[in-house]
Amino acid sequence: MFLTKKEQEMCDGEYGETIRKSMDILVALGDIYGASKLVDITSAQVSGVSYKTIGEAGLEYLQDLAKDGSGKATINASLNPPGTDLDNWKELGFPEYFAVKQNEIVDAYADLGIAKTCTCTPYLVGNVPRFRDHVSWSESSAVAYVNSVIGARTNREGGPAALAAAIVGKTPLYGFHLDENRKANLVVNVSTELKGADYGALGYIIGKVVGGGVPYFKLENTPNNNNLKTLGAALASSGSVALYHVEDVTPEFGTNNVEEIEDIMFITDKEIAETRQNLTTTDKEIDLVCLGCPHASLEEIKEVAQVVQGKTIKNKLWICTSVSVKATADRMGYTQIIEAAGGNIVCDTCMVVAPIEEMGFEVIGVNSAKAANYVPSMCGLDVVYDDVENLIHFE
Ligand code: F3S
Repeated sequence: MFLTKKEQEMCDGEYGETIRKSMDILVALGDIYGASKLVDITSAQVSGVSYKTIGEAGLEYLQDLAKDGSGKATINASLNPPGTDLDNWKELGFPEYFAVKQNEIVDAYADLGIAKTCTCTPYLVGNVPRFRDHVSWSESSAVAYVNSVIGARTNREGGPAALAAAIVGKTPLYGFHLDENRKANLVVNVSTELKGADYGALGYIIGKVVGGGVPYFKLENTPNNNNLKTLGAALASSGSVALYHVEDVTPEFGTNNVEEIEDIMFITDKEIAETRQNLTTTDKEIDLVCLGCPHASLEEIKEVAQVVQGKTIKNKLWICTSVSVKATADRMGYTQIIEAAGGNIVCDTCMVVAPIEEMGFEVIGVNSAKAANYVPSMCGLDVVYDDVENLIHFE
């Protein structure tokens, strides 16, 4: 991979150890994937935050990287969800040993200049690249969103690579940064109107088929941004989709010559209904309804507030979101309505990266196919997959 004089000096340690180590990662990646050079980025989103997933080894790596203070993020860089609500972990019943470690991890990231936004929907809280910007994002649903809905360009980076890119302000130029790799290779004709959890079911079906490919959807109705984030999260969890197109909706759909794509699939209401059913793993009672995967938008919180207003919830309810979105929900009175009904808005973390298996829950109700896919495998718990109105039960 070609390096400029300054980039070579960074590799040689002339700008300090943090930058040298970061360049090591980027150059190794570039060499593996045949990148021609590094390209400037405007934004990073860094995953690998929960103590549950990175453990002691991850914490030591970050503290070691931060210790000489020679390198910090040089562009808009935000952090993925950790394993606790950083402020209210005690009230919500998170284990203390875990919360202490979790705060150390988030602090180490902050020392490296990564903002403590703690969300997988950074595009809702100020990390919004422009169309065609090169970026380095790593949480898979956020990658799908930024590539597909915003039209910025990133590969599915690992956490350390996105961190290195944030510090250097560059990433290797290959894969989804290049026009030729952003074309669809599967057309999906959907002949039923989708709503709510149908979008996750569709994404789950297609992700399995397309793997790391690029699907092109022809839908009966027009999805909103919340539907698109649900769809992308599911595509990125059952497959490894980084980019999808929706006809007449996403910004690059017109770059495809759809008539020339040979692989075509047809999805009817039958497949959607079957998948919705298959994502549920038990017929037992739900003890925690956990919404906000990816992290809830203000509109999604408002919808839940409308469902629970004036009622008493039987099971526990968490709506996971960022601290920034919750601040507006507080001002709008949504938080008070949800808390009065017995629910909680939980900041920073989510049902997959939190240690919920240590918190006495057994059956989790979710409206996200990504959560339905990961809660059984990562937490060892059962899930019920359905729309919000059907998951929340009242006294
Ligand atoms: Fe976000 Fe957690 Fe889902 S990180 S996409 S809420 S699994």
